[in-house]
Amino acid sequence: MTTADNKANAAAERPGYAGVAIALHWIIAAMILGQIAGGFYMHNLPDGNQKFELYQLHKSTGITILLLSLVRLGWRLTHPAPPLPGGMPDWQRLLARGTHIGFYALMIGVPLGGWAIVSASPLAPSVPTYLFGAIPWPHLPFFDGVEDRKATAEAIAEMHELGAFSILGLFALHVAAALKHHFKDKDGVLARMLPFLKRAGSA
Ligand code: HEM
Ligand code: HEM
Repeated sequence: MTTADNKANAAAERPGYAGVAIALHWIIAAMILGQIAGGFYMHNLPDGNQKFELYQLHKSTGITILLLSLVRLGWRLTHPAPPLPGGMPDWQRLLARGTHIGFYALMIGVPLGGWAIVSASPLAPSVPTYLFGAIPWPHLPFFDGVEDRKATAEAIAEMHELGAFSILGLFALHVAAALKHHFKDKDGVLARMLPFLKRAGSA
């Protein structure tokens, strides 16, 4: 299939994502990348006020990501994504689908894991969580009877870190695919998440 065919397909076959899906995609993407950078930064700080404040901010932005991701998943389940370009091989379709499902799982699973660390922590009974210093946020109830809270929180924190690395792995794959669609296949897939590209007439 020629590039011109691809472009014709892009225009004829596929409407773009709705504005809500696009807005949620970019807000959540930016927040997650900031959250990962901030998470590693705060983790490596010496104990003190700054570390404490950054942990509180990390919890607040993390729970916000969780809530936005749940809204986004609800939206996605009720609003199907536009179909992929006609000429795309099956393995690429499968990989795209797997990456997107993996992202949804991590966008929800990683913050849930963070919430579990905080709830299991030995500090949980004495340090309540207030989102952005204002909104009381409960601890998960599952850890009340746990004997070794410290070891439990540390084990969940390991998984939380692994989850963050998994997001980075999927991110690399996802961006590489987006750039391949845009520069090699020229099939308009990136433009449906970045509508200004369409308006600029470059896809
Ligand atoms: C998508 C959302 C989130 C991402 C991508 C994320 C990412 C990270 C990263 C990269 C770290 C540093 C890991 C390390 O160096 O060991 C971290 C640590 C941490 N996160 Fe999150 N986080 C998210 C949400 C949350 C939420 C919602 C909470 C709590 C309500 C939370 C609580 C924590 C805590 C307590 C630590 C420190 C763990 C430790 O000191 O061992 N995170 N997070
Ligand atoms: C951590 C950051 C990111 C996350 C978590 C993420 C997540 C996702 C998810 C879950 C979808 C599927 C949307 C759906 O069908 O519901 C998607 C689609 C898409 N993303 Fe991202 N994304 C991120 C960053 C990026 C970046 C930086 C780019 C561009 C370079 C990008 C380009 C796209 C494109 C073009 C689509 C549409 C794919 C299609 O039409 O099938 N994303 N993204």
